[in-house]
Amino acid sequence: MQAARVERYGSPEQISIVDVPVPEPGPGEVRIRVEAAAVTAGDARLRSGRFPRGFRLPGRLAIGIRGPRAQVPGAVFSGVVDRVGGESGEWRPGDEVAGMTGMRLGAHAEYTVVRATALARKPAEVAHADAAAVLFGGTTALHFLRDRAGVGPGGSVLVNGASGAVGTSAVQLAAILGATVTAVTSAVNRELVTALGADRVVDYRETPVAGLAERFDAVFDAVGNISRSDGLRLAGSHGSVILAVADLVDTVRARGRVIAGAAPERSEAFRELLELLAAGRLAPVGQVLGGLEALPEAHRRIDTGRKVGNLVILPGLGRGEAG
Ligand SMILES: NC(=O)c1ccc[n+]([C@@H]2O[C@H](COP(=O)([O-])OP(=O)(O)OC[C@H]3O[C@@H](n4cnc5c(N)ncnc54)[C@H](OP(=O)(O)O)[C@@H]3O)[C@@H](O)[C@H]2O)c1
Repeated sequence: MQAARVERYGSPEQISIVDVPVPEPGPGEVRIRVEAAAVTAGDARLRSGRFPRGFRLPGRLAIGIRGPRAQVPGAVFSGVVDRVGGESGEWRPGDEVAGMTGMRLGAHAEYTVVRATALARKPAEVAHADAAAVLFGGTTALHFLRDRAGVGPGGSVLVNGASGAVGTSAVQLAAILGATVTAVTSAVNRELVTALGADRVVDYRETPVAGLAERFDAVFDAVGNISRSDGLRLAGSHGSVILAVADLVDTVRARGRVIAGAAPERSEAFRELLELLAAGRLAPVGQVLGGLEALPEAHRRIDTGRKVGNLVILPGLGRGEAG
C-alpha cells in the first residue's frame, strides 16, 4: 500500500510517499481502509518537531529525538473496517467508522491499524471527508468548553482563532451549548464565523483582544497569544481561561479557572460529533485537497498560520474507491 513517511523533522518537503506492507491488526485492534484523513496543526507539529515554549525537549523525548518514531503520520481518519484482530468486540469488516489513532499515528496511508476502542460508527448520511474534518477540532472544543469550563445555556464565550480547525468547532459547539459567542478572527473570515453562529466578530487587526472591555464566562485561546493574565482579566471574577496552546510554565501552573493540557481522544466524543453532523446541527468546515500527494501542500498551508477550517486528504484516491 501507499503511505506517507516522515523520517526527520523539517519542512513539508520532508514528507515522502512510499510503498509499505499493509499493517496487520493484533488482538483488540482493527484495520481500517482509510477513505479520508484530516491534516492538522498536530500533524504539522509532529512533522516539524516544533512545540510550544518549554515542550521541545519533553516533546522530542516522547515522540523521537531527530525524527518521529511513528514515521507514518496522520491521527484522524474516516474509513471502512477491513479486518479485525482477535478480540475486537463490536466491529465487523465493512463497518463504516471514524476515529483518532492516538500517538501511534498512521492515518496518512491507504490502511491503518487502530485500537478497537478508538472508533465510533459513522452514520451513513455523513461523508467520510466530513467525518474526518470534524473530529480534531470537535473533540478539542467539546472537551475544553463543555467538559472542563462547563459552558452552558446563557453563558458567554470568547473564541480566539475562530476560523481555524479548533475555532470553527468551538464557535459552533459554544452556540449549540446555548452560549453567546464572540469570535476573534481577521476580517476575511467574518462571514464564515458569523454563519457558524458567532454573535459578534472582533477583527484582531483592528481591536487587540487583550483590550476588550467585555467579560466572558469562558475565554478559549486557540492561537496561543492570550497571556494567562490577559485571559484572567477577560474572564472577569468567575470565568474560565482555556489555553489550548499553553507553554510548559502555563501548563504546569494551570489549575482552577485556568485550563490547559491535551484534550483526550474519546470514542464517546467522536459519536456525539458524528451525530451532530448527521443531524445537520454541526457544519463541517473543510476542504479536500486530493490524495496522499497533497500532503506537502496541506502542511505548507498549516505552516502559514492562516488555514481556514480543516484540510482533508483521500488516501485511496488513486485506488478509485474513495469518496
Ligand atoms: N490542547 C489541545 O489538546 C489541542 C488540541 C488541538 C489543537 N491544539 C492547538 O491549537 C492550535 C490551533 O489549532 P487549529 O487546528 O485550530 O489551527 P489552524 O486551523 O491552523 O488555525 C489557524 C487559524 O488561526 C487564526 N489566527 C492566526 N493568528 C491569529 C490571531 N492573532 N488572532 C486570531 N486568530 C488568528 C487564523 O485566522 P486568520 O487567517 O483570520 O488570522 C487561522 O484561521 C494549534 O497550535 C494546535 O496545536 C491544541
